[in-house]
Amino acid sequence: MFPCNSPSSPVSADHGSGHSIGRLDQLVQADGMCFHRPVMLQEVLAGLAVNRGCAQSRVFVDATYGRGGHAAGILKALQPGDVLHALDRDPEACDHARRVYGSRRDFRMHHRNFAALDVWAEEQELQGKVNGLLLDLGISSPQIDQPGRGFSFTNDGPLDMRMDPTAGESAAQWLARAEEGEIADVLWRYGEERNSRRIARRIVGTRATAPLRTTSQLAELVASVPGPRSRKIHPATRTFQAIRLHVNRELVALESALAAVSDVLAPGGRLAVISFHSLEDRIVKRYIRAQSDNVRNGERLTPGLRRLERRFPAVSEIQINPRARSAVLRVAERI
Ligand SMILES: C[S@@+](CC[C@H](N)C(=O)[O-])C[C@H]1O[C@@H](n2cnc3c(N)ncnc32)[C@H](O)[C@@H]1O
Repeated sequence: MFPCNSPSSPVSADHGSGHSIGRLDQLVQADGMCFHRPVMLQEVLAGLAVNRGCAQSRVFVDATYGRGGHAAGILKALQPGDVLHALDRDPEACDHARRVYGSRRDFRMHHRNFAALDVWAEEQELQGKVNGLLLDLGISSPQIDQPGRGFSFTNDGPLDMRMDPTAGESAAQWLARAEEGEIADVLWRYGEERNSRRIARRIVGTRATAPLRTTSQLAELVASVPGPRSRKIHPATRTFQAIRLHVNRELVALESALAAVSDVLAPGGRLAVISFHSLEDRIVKRYIRAQSDNVRNGERLTPGLRRLERRFPAVSEIQINPRARSAVLRVAERI
């Protein structure tokens, strides 16, 4: 048996550890009509080293519960005394967790934004005690697929896009008040939308006569703006991504959570992050690199991280779950 999260123990030796996770990665998590399939489940479990034997009880944190696909895999591998804490800012995700796992004594669900991971860990007295932390970024399939959440331009719905509809400003509210320059900046910064200025101008011109209230109104507006565009994606894809990232302050939340990681993890604790686009992955990559290089004159300045691996989904996974195609998993270990 390895000591908990022993830095010398292997990353990918979990298969055959005796804890069968069955075929969870082949199963779909059902919630009414909406489904979510966990991305790179086996790789995440190996990265977090959940299946490794350990003499002491351990603490895992899934900071992005979603529909509990990864949480289910972690729960299956827990040993007596271990605990899984799950966070999500979406109240529907929290309801799902309480419905499905509410009776388990080794599971705790928290309706929280992981941006304040440090505050949450302090409240829970978990600073320096977490053996594995997962961030599976972005939105879940139920969030995309429910028209009422306003994330999708293929299913018409109210222009909302908030992961937590009980907090902050919806996309419609922001688009109704933001200045043209601010809208253009957001579309360029978070969507790399080459047509950002023209789209922003059209939004401001349109809202002067009628507010933008639905996802299809916005998608049609963007599609009607002339300018350079890719043939591979819908013309509104970049605009929707940018507004979603902005409304939910996603990159700010990621940076803030990462800043707390080395204090939250126990020595040898693992961090696993799945990103879905280059803006997120760049932040994760730079953070891990900075933590790994966190040495001056041969001495480590603060508790750092050791880079372990970067993984992409297998072709066979992408065939089953096309939403996995842009995923990148990075794993690091607290020194
Ligand atoms: C890609 S899904 C996770 C799916 C999950 N791993 C599964 O297998 O079911 C991302 C989830 O993280 C949540 N989320 C995103 N950003 C968050 C944040 N800053 N704080 C808390 N939850 C967040 C979203 O609401 C969503 O439910």
